[in-house]
Amino acid sequence: MSEQTKDLKRLEVLKEQLNDYAYHYYVLDQSLISDAEYDRLYKELLAIEADHPEWISQDSPSQRVGDQLLEGFQKVNHAQAMYSLGNAFNEADIQAFIKRVEEGVGDRYSLMCECKIDGLAIALTYEEGLFIRGATRGNGQTGEDITQNLRTIPSLPLRLRQPVSGEFRGEAYMPKEIFAKLNTLRDEAGESPLANPRNAAAGALRQIDPAKAAQRQLNIFMYNCSSHSEIVADSQAKLLEEMEAVGLRTNPLRKLCKNFEEVWEFIQRVNHQRHQLPYEIDGIVIKVNSFTQQEKLGYTVKAPRWAIAYKFPAELAQTTLIDVEWTVGRTGVVTPTAVMKPVLLAGTTVQRASLHNVDLIEKLGLHMGDRVMIHKAGDIIPEIKQVDRTYRKPDSLPISIPEQCPQCSEELIQIKDEVALRCVNPNCPAQRLAQITHFVSRVAMNIDGLGEKIVEQLLDNQLIKDPADLYYLKQDDFLKLDKVKEKTANNLVTAIENSKDRGLDRLLFALGIRHVGAKAARLIAEEFGTIEAVMTADQDQVSQIDGIGEIISQSLVHYFEQETSLELIKRFKKIGVKTDFPLKKVVEDQLNDFAGKTIVLTGSMERYSRNEAKQILQNLGANVTNSVSKKTDLLIVGSEAGSKLTKAQSLGILIMNEATFLEKLAESGIKNAK
Ligand code: IVH
Repeated sequence: MSEQTKDLKRLEVLKEQLNDYAYHYYVLDQSLISDAEYDRLYKELLAIEADHPEWISQDSPSQRVGDQLLEGFQKVNHAQAMYSLGNAFNEADIQAFIKRVEEGVGDRYSLMCECKIDGLAIALTYEEGLFIRGATRGNGQTGEDITQNLRTIPSLPLRLRQPVSGEFRGEAYMPKEIFAKLNTLRDEAGESPLANPRNAAAGALRQIDPAKAAQRQLNIFMYNCSSHSEIVADSQAKLLEEMEAVGLRTNPLRKLCKNFEEVWEFIQRVNHQRHQLPYEIDGIVIKVNSFTQQEKLGYTVKAPRWAIAYKFPAELAQTTLIDVEWTVGRTGVVTPTAVMKPVLLAGTTVQRASLHNVDLIEKLGLHMGDRVMIHKAGDIIPEIKQVDRTYRKPDSLPISIPEQCPQCSEELIQIKDEVALRCVNPNCPAQRLAQITHFVSRVAMNIDGLGEKIVEQLLDNQLIKDPADLYYLKQDDFLKLDKVKEKTANNLVTAIENSKDRGLDRLLFALGIRHVGAKAARLIAEEFGTIEAVMTADQDQVSQIDGIGEIISQSLVHYFEQETSLELIKRFKKIGVKTDFPLKKVVEDQLNDFAGKTIVLTGSMERYSRNEAKQILQNLGANVTNSVSKKTDLLIVGSEAGSKLTKAQSLGILIMNEATFLEKLAESGIKNAK
């Protein structure tokens, strides 16, 4: 056997093995091999594919995340309409549903009860076992083609275990843990939290960058198929088993019930354990099991008569308001938080709830010591829903709204058209603390090991008063702090030093300029490239950036009109904090050496990381791909290039080294390239 044939055979074996392991792991929840072993096989597959890009097939595990941005989403017609379901809210509604079923099919029936997953309905099309398309439900008749984003979901099989064709339906969802992490990150980045995992899943699937969709780590449960599908089953129970057998993930938490009592018992049981489930459910779907009976019952215009969705009641808990705390944020906004007697609600102990602003306190008519009803918005975020005035003591006092800053005693103001109370003292210690804590946080300058506690001590000991001061600290300064030993002090100095290279986008965000979130900071950095250009820009120039509005541009320009801001930047520059952005967008539609070309990067470069280089090239209009093939126009090589270089040489593809690359970039108007 020739080397070629051997490699091809090996590739087929690897693909099959990896897909099989994935099936056991994601669908059956069984781990057959260690992660390390899986990685080893996966790398072997990548290596063969790198040598033979022409062998890369659509069902290869390497093809989950493409490297192309999507150009919007095409409309797709569903093979058969995707219906929604009628709702039931209590025992009587379910009994009425069962009665209608009995009237239609008699009393010999069974009911399949499944969890109602709080995600996004999807339809997956397979042709002879190959995943060819995935779509959203849309209006039921037509949805949107989100194939590329769905491919990134590891539990979605790219090839089924049997060569069947059909359209399978189910739910894509974001696991609770991932949802919670995403919201923490959003919070750190100054973005508002997503209300529930369903919105988060929908957002993930509508990303135009599949790599971003992949980061959201969605999962799927499949529960249905269109009548055109080649799955042989005569009931819902059998269908779920068959779907699982061909490789589709189904939810094992389900029960075939004989009557109302069994259905209700299942509902109660699931309701009790639902907060422990790793995914969010908002009810139970009850389906007539037999397909013959389903057909007999048929559909109304909107929903099947053979199924109904029971919705869990929103959970409420009663507790007592003990205190209202007022905290000063980094922009000086003073926010109230309710402190309550701890109470168990929807799976966790709750004792604090944001009151958002003064308006809400007034709307609720809150008094100290009030008996309050709380719920969780989107089943996650605790909120006070209402006050039970019957328990109010006659001498209880309404919540007093502070007139002075709880930290610096400066008079608080309420800006016109804003509900927020604000402390406008630029020297307010609470604001300083919040600002510097934001500056060092993971999403901003990412200074490892430097958290609020240390920042607080540095401020208290007057070792710093603004973020630039951090860069002037010595090891000895840290040793003056509580519980900080030599090693920690050393690590902190190194971490601060390392953060100097984050670049203009991070720095702009880290400064905590009002309204300038991570995304806006990036857009501004891309547009202007250097801090000097940002500082001298006027409002018109800034608001011309796509995605930047009046409010942001006004705030940015105002920030750099302040003497203190200019001083701060001067000190950042003096100590070597990087204040430029290498990925400056080429605004002019100029021709360059890279536009329209298919380019592969290999080896490591000194000036840019692989990702940075890729983005620069994309901004210049190039198509950057991962593997060398006949279609490749140019290979850019750093040091230690491997098989891609050999391959390109054998195909006679143009090769460019880093020095020439940087030169061409400079010619193309990329500042700081050299
Ligand atoms: S069956 C014709 N089963 O709930 C029957 N739906 O309100 C179609 N959903 O749009 C739906 N889990 O997105 C079914 N186990 C489940 C479900 C489920 C969640 C969603 C689905 C549908 C909505 C109906």
